[in-house]
Amino acid sequence: MNNQEFTEKYYIRREKGNSVKWQRGRKEKCLPMWIADMDFKDDERVIFALKDFIEEGDYGYANLPQDYYKVFIDWHKRRNDIEYRQEWIRFTRGAVDAMYQIIYSLTDSSDGILICTPLYPPFKATIKESGRKVYESKMINNDGFFTFDYKDIEKKFRSKKIRMMMLCSPHNPVGRVFKKGELEELFDLCHQYHVLIVSDEVHSDIIMPDQEFIPSLAFRKYRNEIISIVAASKSFSLAVFSHCHVIIPNAKLRKKFIEYQRHNHLGSVNAFNALPTYYNYLYGEKWLDSLNNVVFENYEYFRKQLGNELEISTLEGSYLIFVNIGEYSTESSAAKCLQKDCGLLVNAGETFGKGYDGWVRINLATSMDNVKKAVRNIKKLIRNKAAD
Ligand SMILES: Cc1ncc(COP(=O)(O)O)c(C=O)c1O
Repeated sequence: MNNQEFTEKYYIRREKGNSVKWQRGRKEKCLPMWIADMDFKDDERVIFALKDFIEEGDYGYANLPQDYYKVFIDWHKRRNDIEYRQEWIRFTRGAVDAMYQIIYSLTDSSDGILICTPLYPPFKATIKESGRKVYESKMINNDGFFTFDYKDIEKKFRSKKIRMMMLCSPHNPVGRVFKKGELEELFDLCHQYHVLIVSDEVHSDIIMPDQEFIPSLAFRKYRNEIISIVAASKSFSLAVFSHCHVIIPNAKLRKKFIEYQRHNHLGSVNAFNALPTYYNYLYGEKWLDSLNNVVFENYEYFRKQLGNELEISTLEGSYLIFVNIGEYSTESSAAKCLQKDCGLLVNAGETFGKGYDGWVRINLATSMDNVKKAVRNIKKLIRNKAAD
């Protein structure tokens, strides 16, 4: 299926529904390109299977489908050449929920946790709200290509009481799919300084052509020092179902995590909410491959049209780009400028880290028509600035 056919078949007009993204768009009379969900509906076989469940009418207590774990494990084996084991897998009601549960169960209130910024804001928020100390290492930016500042990370590991590093891989908002060498150097450091790695991999199915996603747990030698957060929620836009996996190979850590879940009545999985993940892993693979092509075409278009004027992050994974509008912004916050001058709702750079007020995060999981409209409006802003 080509990109146009995909869009014609799956694009949803979400303006009238309860979509958080589009309701705000309607209220502000803007084209919404903020928040990380997609404007495409699932493959029809997934919808059909869900309808079937609903129509069956049996809404009593339920187990997961018998082959749920097999289907989950096969998906990750097939797509990323990693073999997760069933006993490593726990469930939460989302990735942010997983972050809270991991922090509470596996760190002490006096522990520090490192993150690399710019970064999806809930990382910092969960650390702060759970009373732990946040350490931020600013990533190195080479013309929109962001990577780790190992010297700074090591300095912080050496001088502060840091017990955990929360990694976002692929990285939101800078779109990086980290190379093996980059991850290895990071994990070597974490190992050396006894820092537990939590790897949020919820964007790991949205991978651009010629990129290879390497799951953190593929580093076998560090398997006991890594916990991964894995979900189909970004891959197939399933946020409303609140279903996520936490993968903990280390038996001692897993025991602590399970105890925490038991004490807080969080140990059971919602079998209904798991169904869309299950059906998508069964039926959604071709859909996902087409979706990745659509996102990449949107990115290439955006870059071709605006890459000379704006610094744009390299999109290797996810459908989110981080864009530096600073030079053309008529407001101290570029996101405010895009809203006021371009009729676009985007995520404000300053929410991802200090010093990013001139940046915005733009969601490209939408139709080419919407991307073209956004580009047109940003071009006008650039032209107006040049005419000043
Ligand atoms: C990297 C990352 N982690 C977590 C989340 C939130 O996931 P959930 O809705 O499952 O809490 C997002 C949502 O955008 C995300 O980009």
